[in-house]
Formats: sequence, structure tokens, C-alpha cells
Amino acid sequence: MRVLILGATGSIGTAVAAELKDFGHQVVGLARTANSAGVLKNLGYGVVIGDIRAPADWSNIVNSVDAIVQVAVTFTDDMGAVDRCLIEELHRAVEQRPIPLRFIYTGGCWLYGATGDTVADEMTPFQPIASFAWMVENAAFILAAERFNTAVIHPAMTYCQDGGILSRFAEQAAAQRSIEIWGNQDVRWPLVHRDDLATAYRLMLERPDLTGHFNVSAEEGVRVGELAAEIAKRYGNHLPFIVRTRADVVAEYGGWAEGPILDQQMSSAKIRTATGWRPKRKAPPK
Ligand SMILES: NC(=O)c1ccc[n+]([C@@H]2O[C@H](COP(=O)([O-])OP(=O)(O)OC[C@H]3O[C@@H](n4cnc5c(N)ncnc54)[C@H](OP(=O)(O)O)[C@@H]3O)[C@@H](O)[C@H]2O)c1
Repeated sequence: MRVLILGATGSIGTAVAAELKDFGHQVVGLARTANSAGVLKNLGYGVVIGDIRAPADWSNIVNSVDAIVQVAVTFTDDMGAVDRCLIEELHRAVEQRPIPLRFIYTGGCWLYGATGDTVADEMTPFQPIASFAWMVENAAFILAAERFNTAVIHPAMTYCQDGGILSRFAEQAAAQRSIEIWGNQDVRWPLVHRDDLATAYRLMLERPDLTGHFNVSAEEGVRVGELAAEIAKRYGNHLPFIVRTRADVVAEYGGWAEGPILDQQMSSAKIRTATGWRPKRKAPPK
């Protein structure tokens, strides 16, 4: 399969590209800079130069691939509008294809809001944090788009060896500073290692009969206090945690900081049953 990855240089995209290559698929990555293009070429991937802010400049590529994975995001105030223009332009560009193009779009666990003691599944109504509400609308658009054959993957909080979502804890622990907990220590995070997540993307690409929403979590909900304590122990850091309020972190980092404060649990039973996906890793990474 020849797969166009938007965001192949990003945290999730790097792992998805490597997984696809390992399993014999051909990867083409969108690169907006010469640096990103060089990184992708060195990894043996094809490259299309372009920016998701100007999709009409490169959208023709969709007519020479078998599938698209969307894991690119600008993380700017206009990220929802950028994403909407992007997917509308890609849909326009696939006009000539005889069969719908496989499209794996990316949502996220923060679209379910705080679930508390309930474990969110794909039937749970979305209650996104405000700064990611656009993702629910764009996912609905793309699922309804007739020239796409779409699955929307909702990754749990994603970590990797270098950290990912756990990097802040590891950096603070390693620097012998107090680990900051946002909200409170009992907040639960659904978690997945990005290599396990990458396997889920590949399985979904290889199963075009599966459409709709699919949650991907290895662990349904782990308390952040436990994660932070484990990481602190590894670095011999015995300092007490600093607990910061929602208002405090949102004022400093912006609306996305509401995400890590959500007390969430998220099930991945649907993708496990449908594809046999089984995560191999547990947080925090060894
Ligand atoms: N990480 C998580 O824990 C998590 C969990 C759930 C959902 N998600 C969702 O998954 C998606 C990917 O997240 P991530 O953590 O992998 O993000 P990331 O590491 O920040 O990667 C973003 C990617 O988008 C590319 N990009 C940004 N602006 C671009 C532009 N204008 N034109 C072309 N490419 C552009 C970046 O390219 P450059 O290398 O050139 O910057 C990079 O490849 C996001 O939608 C995120 O909300 C993430």
C-alpha cells in the first residue's frame, strides 16, 4: 500500500511511518521544510513538499496513493480552520478516483471530556474541551465525505521512550525539581505507547471494511499521581509534588492545558475485537 502521511515528522507520525515501512508499505510524507524533507528521505520515505495551510499546492498527490493518514496539526489558534480547509481540499482533489480513498483521521481522548468513573467507548457522546471542539466537527465531515472511506482513530495520551505526554514529569524529575501535577493526583489518563498506537493505525489501514470511530488505549485510566511517583522514584527524586490549579495552567499555557486535567477513562475494546490489536507496552516506559 502506498500511504501519504501528513505529519510524518511528528511524534505519532514518526512511529506510524516506521511501522508501515516495517510491514512493507510505501510511505510518502508531507514535508513543509527542507529539514523535514531531509529527515524523511534519510528514513527511506518518499517526500511531497507542502504545507497543510496551502493544500491546493500539493493535493494532486492523493491521486497516486492508496490511503492517507492525517496526524498533522499546527497547534495554533486557527488549527481547526486549517484542518477543515485541508480535508475539504483533499476531498475535492480525489474527485477522479473510481473508489473511495482510505482515510485515517485523528481525533483524541480529550474529545470525550471528563468521564470520571465511566469508561468512554465509541458510543459515548463527545464533550470536547473547547480548544479541540473543531475536531469533532471535522471528524463528522470526513466520515460523511462520500469520496473517502474513513476511520477516525482516537489516541489515548501518547508516550514514548523519550517521553511524549510523560516528558514533563521526566524532565522535572531528572532536573531534581518538584514534579508539577495539573489538577490533582487522582486525575486518570488513558495511555498508549506510540509504537502500539502505530500498530493500530496500520491495522486500520489494512482493514478498509472498518469505518467509524475507534479508540486506542493500552491502559484505560492511570492516576497521574501514580505515574509521577514512579517516574520520580526512577530518578531518585524525593521532592513533594507541586499541584497546580486548572486556572493557573490554562492562564500559562492556553486552552489545551484543560486536556491533561480531565479525569478520563477510555476503552479500546472495539478496535481489539475488530482487528486483534493488542498493545505490548505499559506506562511509564522502562
Ligand atoms: N500526542 C498525543 O498524546 C496525542 C493524543 C491524542 C491525539 N493526538 C492528536 O494526534 C495528532 C498528532 O499529534 P502529535 O503529538 O504527533 O503532534 P506533533 O508531534 O506536534 O506533530 C505535528 C506534525 O504536524 C506537522 N505540521 C505542523 N504544522 C504543519 C504545517 N503547517 N504544514 C505541514 N505539516 C505541519 C509537523 O511537521 P514539522 O515536523 O515540520 O513541524 C509534525 O509532523 C494531533 O491532531 C493531536 O491532537 C495526539
